[in-house]
Amino acid sequence: MTKKEINIVKACSKNINQFVKYVKILGPEGFAEFRPYQYQVKLLRKFVHSWENRRTEKHNHIVVGPRQSGKTTALAVYALWYLLFNSDKCIGLLGYKDSISKEILLRIKEIYNYLPDFLKQEVVRNTKDHFRLANGSYIFTASMCARSVRGKTVDLLLFDEAAFTRDSDFEEFILSVFPTQAARPDAQMIMISTPHGNNQFYEIYKRAVSGNSSFIATRLRYDCVPGRDEEFKEKMIRDNGRAFFEQEYNASFLISKEIPSDEKIIIKVNTNPLSPAEAKGFIEKLKELYSKKLDIKTIKNKTEYEIEYV
Ligand SMILES: Nc1ncnc2c1ncn2[C@@H]1O[C@H](COP(=O)(O)OP(=O)(O)OP(=O)(O)O)[C@@H](O)[C@H]1O
Ligand SMILES: [Mg+2]
Repeated sequence: MTKKEINIVKACSKNINQFVKYVKILGPEGFAEFRPYQYQVKLLRKFVHSWENRRTEKHNHIVVGPRQSGKTTALAVYALWYLLFNSDKCIGLLGYKDSISKEILLRIKEIYNYLPDFLKQEVVRNTKDHFRLANGSYIFTASMCARSVRGKTVDLLLFDEAAFTRDSDFEEFILSVFPTQAARPDAQMIMISTPHGNNQFYEIYKRAVSGNSSFIATRLRYDCVPGRDEEFKEKMIRDNGRAFFEQEYNASFLISKEIPSDEKIIIKVNTNPLSPAEAKGFIEKLKELYSKKLDIKTIKNKTEYEIEYV
């Protein structure tokens, strides 16, 4: 390594946004220089700052943001920076499905491959769910299930699209992994997602916003991506409705649906895959969603329930 390269490595280790200058990501014309959006610069800085000041500051993060806004890219860049510049660390990548976390690992490896040689290290292990460097740090992937993480000492736990986790999986995670992981002073947890209604993810977000947890909440709005301006917003609302825009592109949690009191709604339920108990559970869930003001009047046939707002 030349002296200049040594200095660059030092600068990158101290400042993630220096490192970002050497990152390439896959764009419409192949791998090209990553020019982070302003929010990505800030978010990466925030992740690093809170990690470096973990003894005195909150350092877990929950981030909600719009679709296709570069959330996973930011997470992948942070994971790679952390991997390269911290020794003997374990990084867990969680997804609500196995394939999600594996795909992120693939993206991390691609970014790694396109780094200049002087920023790379010897790769000690490289499988589709494990990536280990000579500095002793490694990334492993896991599906969103507590079993895959429980008992492991994970220094950095990254959880992409967390809001899409099944309630039962999330509950298991909350019961067994979440409290110990969130409370470890030397570990960092980052959850990032597009919102997905009223669920466990929303509960964690709500507590973070109220300041009553170890998480820092960040909400990215529709205009965090250059080009998504007022005109984009209006077009989205025109084409897809406000609710869609708010949830998918403005990171709003849609908590309840307003139904005019005189409106009768017919909900078709395909009961074929449902046992009677499951069908009952489904109706109960609906009641919960509509503030228990629903009355099941008739079951018209085996696949159609008539439900009335009372
Ligand atoms: N700063 C950037 N400049 C240009 N393109 C970017 C930037 N950040 C991300 N992208 C590209 O935008 C696309 C979406 O990025 P990414 O998958 O990270 O977004 P996301 O918010 O995780 O999307 P999704 O909601 O589908 O999970 C990708 O093709 C990615 O390469
Ligand atoms: Mg993503």
